[in-house]
Amino acid sequence: MTTPTKAILTFDNGAAPIELPVQAGTYGPDVIDIRALNQHGYLTYDPGFMSTASCTSGISFIDGEAGVLYYRGYPIEQLVQHADFLEVAWLLLFGELPLPAEKADFSQQVRRNAMLHDQINNVFRGFRRDAHPMAVMVGVTGAMSAFYHDSSDVFDAASRVQTAVHLIGKVPTIAAMSYKYNMGEPFVYPQYQLGYAENFLHMMFSTPCESYEVNPVLARALDRIFILHADHEQNASTSTVRLAGSSGANPYACIAAGMASLWGPLHGGANEAVLKMLAEIGDVSRIPEFIERAKDKQNPFRLMGFGHRIYKNMDPRAAFMRQTCHEVLEELDLVDDPLFRIALELERIALQDEYFIARKLYPNVDFYSGIVFRALGIPPSMFTAIFALARTVGWVAQWNEMLADSSHRIGRPRQHYNGATRRDYVPEHLRGA
Ligand code: CMC
Repeated sequence: MTTPTKAILTFDNGAAPIELPVQAGTYGPDVIDIRALNQHGYLTYDPGFMSTASCTSGISFIDGEAGVLYYRGYPIEQLVQHADFLEVAWLLLFGELPLPAEKADFSQQVRRNAMLHDQINNVFRGFRRDAHPMAVMVGVTGAMSAFYHDSSDVFDAASRVQTAVHLIGKVPTIAAMSYKYNMGEPFVYPQYQLGYAENFLHMMFSTPCESYEVNPVLARALDRIFILHADHEQNASTSTVRLAGSSGANPYACIAAGMASLWGPLHGGANEAVLKMLAEIGDVSRIPEFIERAKDKQNPFRLMGFGHRIYKNMDPRAAFMRQTCHEVLEELDLVDDPLFRIALELERIALQDEYFIARKLYPNVDFYSGIVFRALGIPPSMFTAIFALARTVGWVAQWNEMLADSSHRIGRPRQHYNGATRRDYVPEHLRGA
C-alpha cells in the first residue's frame, strides 16, 4: 500500500472533520502529524508513548518484527564485526563512518579527555562507601556540570561536539572510579595510550600493587558490548536526555538524568535479574520446573532475559552477545561454568517450547550480557553502570541532533486532566465540619 498524504479525523457529534498530514520516514510506520490538533481544541492521549513518535531522528532504527537494528543505516551485525566503539561513536554523532585521519584524531581526543578534574575526587569522597555505583555515577556526572558549565554553550555546534568528546572520554573514568570507591581501592588513573575498552578494564582492575596486563580478547569483547548498547531509538533514558536537554540545560546534568532513568529495573537492570535466576535454578535438572513456572498464568515468575517489547524476532544484539559470551568463556577457560551450562540448556529448552514459540519470546541481549560481565569479574552492581557508559554515546548523539535542529522546541507534553473541578479555599478551622 502506498503512503497516504493525509488522514481525516471525523467526530460523531457533527463537528467538522480535521485533516492531518501523513509523513513517511525512511523505514517504520508512517506518521500522522497531529501538531495542528490543539488549534482545534483536542489533544492526543498516549501514556507510555506506545503510538507516539516524539521526534524525528536519523540515528538508529529498530524493526522488531524483522529483528533489525541499524545505526545510521548500518546493520549492527556489520558494525560489531568490523568497527570499534569509537568508530561507532563518531558514526552516531556525525552520521558517517570516519575517514582514517578523523578516526585517529577523534580517538586521540577522547582518550586525552579521560582524566577528571582532580577536585572531582572530593565529590566521590562525599558518598558512603557502600553506595550503589549507579547512585555515585548519577551524582558525579551531575556534579560535572559545576566543573564545565561555562564552557558548554549548547547552542553552538562546536561546543556541543567538545562536550560530547568530554563525556565519552570521562564517563568510563567515572564508572571505574565508582567501582573502586565501592571496593575501597585507590582510584586508577586512565592511560592515554590504551584503547577505549582496554583503558576501562585497566581502570577497573589494576591496582598500584601489581602490574595488570589487559587481555586483548576480553577488551575486544567489552568493546563489542559497548557497540551493542550504544543507541536504541527513543527509549526511556534517551527520551529523558532529550526532554531535559530541550530546555538548554547543562549537558552533564542531562546525561545524569538519562543515567537515573536507565538505572530503573524496567530499563537497564534485567541482566542482573538473569544471573539471580540462573543461580536460583542452580542445576540443569531444575530447568523444566522453572519453565513451567514461567508458563503458569497464576505465577508472576517470568524467564528473565526472554522477550522484548519491540523485538518479536531474535534481538540482533543477542546473537552477538551469545557469540561474545562463548568467546569470553573459552578465553577464560570457563565453558564448564555451571551458570553458563544452565543458561545454554534453558535457552535450548525454551526455544523448542510451544509457549515461547507462539509468543515470539527469544533470548534478549540481557540474557547473555550478565554471564559475560560475571566472567570478566564485573560485579552485578556495575552492570547498569557499563550500560550507561556505552549509552552515553547514544545520549550525546541524540542530544546533539535535537539541538542542531533549528525547529527544536522545549519539550512540554500536555495532559488529560481528571482532577477536581474548580472550588474555593476552605479556611483551616472550617475543614471537616
Ligand atoms: N517469560 C514468560 N512469559 C513471558 C515472558 C517471559 N520472560 N515475557 C513475556 N511473556 C508472556 C506474557 O506473559 C504474555 O503472555 P500472554 O499473552 O499469555 O498473556 C506474552 O508473553 C506477551 O507479554 P507482554 O508482557 O505483553 O510483553 P511486553 O512486550 O509487554 O514485555 C518484556 C516485554 C521484556 C517486559 C517481557 O518480555 C519481560 O518481562 N521479559 C523478562 C524481563 C527481561 O528480560 N527484560 C529485558 C528486556 S531487553 C532490555 C533492553 O532492550 O533494554
